[in-house]
Amino acid sequence: MAAYNIIDHEYDVVVVGAGGAGLRATFGMVQHGLKTACITKVFPTRSHTVAAQGGVGAALGNMAEDNWVWHMYDTVKGADWLGDQDAIEYMCREAIPAVHELEHYGVPFSRTPEGKIYQRPFGGHMRNFGEAPVQRACAAADRTGHAILHTLYQQSLKHKAEFFVEYFALDLMMDESGCRGVVALDMATGTIHRFKGHQTVMATGGYGRSYFSCTSAHTCTGDGNAMVARAGLPLQDMEFVQFHPTGVYGAGVLITEGARGEGGYLTNSHGERFMERYAPTAKDLASRDVVSRAMTMEIRDGQGIGPEKDHILLHLEHLGAEVLHQRLPGITETAKVFAGVDATKEPIPVLPTVHYNMGGIPTNYMAEAISPLPGKPDNVIPGLMAIGEAASVSVHGANRLGTNSLLDLVVFGRAAALRAKDLIKKGTPHRPLSKNAADLALSRLDRIRNASGSLTTAAIRKNMQRTMQNDAAVFRTSKTLKEGMDKMGQIAGSLRDLKVSDRSLIFNTDLIEALELENLMACALATIVGGEARHESRGAHAHEDFPNRDDENWMKHTLAWIADDWKVKLDYRPVHTYTLTNDVKYIPPKARVY
Ligand code: FUM
Repeated sequence: MAAYNIIDHEYDVVVVGAGGAGLRATFGMVQHGLKTACITKVFPTRSHTVAAQGGVGAALGNMAEDNWVWHMYDTVKGADWLGDQDAIEYMCREAIPAVHELEHYGVPFSRTPEGKIYQRPFGGHMRNFGEAPVQRACAAADRTGHAILHTLYQQSLKHKAEFFVEYFALDLMMDESGCRGVVALDMATGTIHRFKGHQTVMATGGYGRSYFSCTSAHTCTGDGNAMVARAGLPLQDMEFVQFHPTGVYGAGVLITEGARGEGGYLTNSHGERFMERYAPTAKDLASRDVVSRAMTMEIRDGQGIGPEKDHILLHLEHLGAEVLHQRLPGITETAKVFAGVDATKEPIPVLPTVHYNMGGIPTNYMAEAISPLPGKPDNVIPGLMAIGEAASVSVHGANRLGTNSLLDLVVFGRAAALRAKDLIKKGTPHRPLSKNAADLALSRLDRIRNASGSLTTAAIRKNMQRTMQNDAAVFRTSKTLKEGMDKMGQIAGSLRDLKVSDRSLIFNTDLIEALELENLMACALATIVGGEARHESRGAHAHEDFPNRDDENWMKHTLAWIADDWKVKLDYRPVHTYTLTNDVKYIPPKARVY
C-alpha cells in the first residue's frame, strides 16, 4: 500500500454529512458542550436538503383543527404498517415543538394573514383518521428545504461548530468495543484523516443515484449505508424505494406535491382526472405510492400523453399567475427551464421518478444504530448513530408521507444530540486506536485509485442505473426482480475490471466517483435482493405476482448484509407494534381506505 499522510483528530462526536439532519445534530451536540466535528463532501448549503420543496409536517392547526395523533395515524397508515410505532409517535409529537424551534431559529416560513406559519395540504395527511385532507405542511413557498438548510447552517456557525468541508468519508473505524470513528480523505490536499469519536453519526442521505431517473442530487450515493455495510452491519428495508409522482418528464426534476396541495390535478389522454377513480376520498392527494401506481397504470392502459403515450399532465394553470407566483415560484421556474412550459397557461408533463429511500441503517428512536443478536432484535452498536435519509428509524416504513422527511431530519437530528449528551461524559479520554484502524479504508482507496481494468466508472454506473430503473421499478414481478438480481450480480462483479485514469490525490473526481459507485452498488444490491425475496405488495414495493399486503408473513423489517464478494444475506426483525407512551394505542393494520 502506498504511504499516505495520516492526520489524527479527537472529538466527542463526529457527524458525517451536513444536510438538515447532520447540521441539526452538529449544533445540538455543540449546544450540549460536546466537542463535535462535522465532515462533509460538499459545502453544507449545497447538501441535498436544499432541494426539498413543499413543506415540513406538523399538526400545528394553524389553518383548521389538527392533532398530532391524526398525524401519527396517517404516518402509520402511509407506511403501510411497516413503520415502528414508538418512533412514529415520537416524531409526530415532537413535530410541533420542532417547527416552532425552526421558526425561532429564523426559518422564513410563508405566513397567513394573521401572521401564523402557512400550512398547505399534502398527500396522505388527513383530518380525523382519514376523513378529509388537512393543511399540515408548514411551507416557505416551495423552497422549504432551502430555507431550513440555510437557517440550520447559520445556527451551526452561531454555535461555532467545526466543519471539515470537502472531506470524503471512506470507512468506519470499528473494533470489538463498537465504532471508534471514521477515516476521511481531504479532497483538496489528498491527506488522510482519522477522526476519533465517542459517537459517530451517519447523516449521509439517500442513494437515489442508483437509479437512472431520480430527483436526488448527484451526491446522493449512499456513502454512509455502504460504510456500515462494509463494517459487517445490516441495512434495513432497502427494497422500499419511493417514486414521487411528479418528476418533470424527461428530466426527473421535482415538481412539489405542494402543487397538488394548492389545487393542482393530474389528467390522462382523455383529459380525465383519473385519481378520482383510484382514491375517491384523497384523490390527487392520496399517498405517493398510490398516485405513482395509478399514473403508471394509466400509461400502461394506453392513456398516457404524447406520441409515445408515456407521461401524464399536471394542471396548475387554473390556479392563476398570482397564486403560482406567491406559493409555487420555484416549480413555475422549473417547469419553464426543464419542460419549456409556462405553468400559468399550460399543464406540465410529469412522470413518477425515484425520490426517496425508506430503507437505510436501522436505528432506534434515539438514533442509535442497531444490529440484532439472537433474542435481541434491537441490539445497539456502541458508538454508532444514524439520522435522516441514511437511517431507517423506521418512521417511514414501506412508504414515506411527503413532508415527513424534513421533519425526520430535525426531530432525529435533535434526538441524536440529546442521546449523545446522556451517553458521553464530557472530557472522557479516547483509548488509542489499533495500528490497523485505517487499513480497511486505505486498502480500498489504494485498490480503487490504482484500478487498471477496461471499464470506466460511467459505463458501470450506467449499467447499474438502467438495470435498477427497469427491474426494480414502480411495479415489480418475480421475473424482473430475478433477472435484475442476476444482472446486478454481474454488474457488481464488473467492478473488478474498473479503470481509474487519474492516480493523483488532489481533487481527483475520477477517484471520488469510483468510490461513490462502489457505495451505490452495495445499496442497489440490497434493494433488489430484498425486493426479490419479499413476496407481497406493501407501500412502495408493488409486486405484481403477490398483489396483496400479507401481514401474517411479511409484517417484518428486512435486514441485508453485503459481503465483500457482493453476495447479500437476508434476515428479518419484528416491526415495533407498540407505542412509546400510553397517550395513543397501537394502530392495528386494516384494509386501506383512500
Ligand atoms: O413534493 C415535495 O415537495 C416533496 C416533499 C417531500 O418529499 O417530503
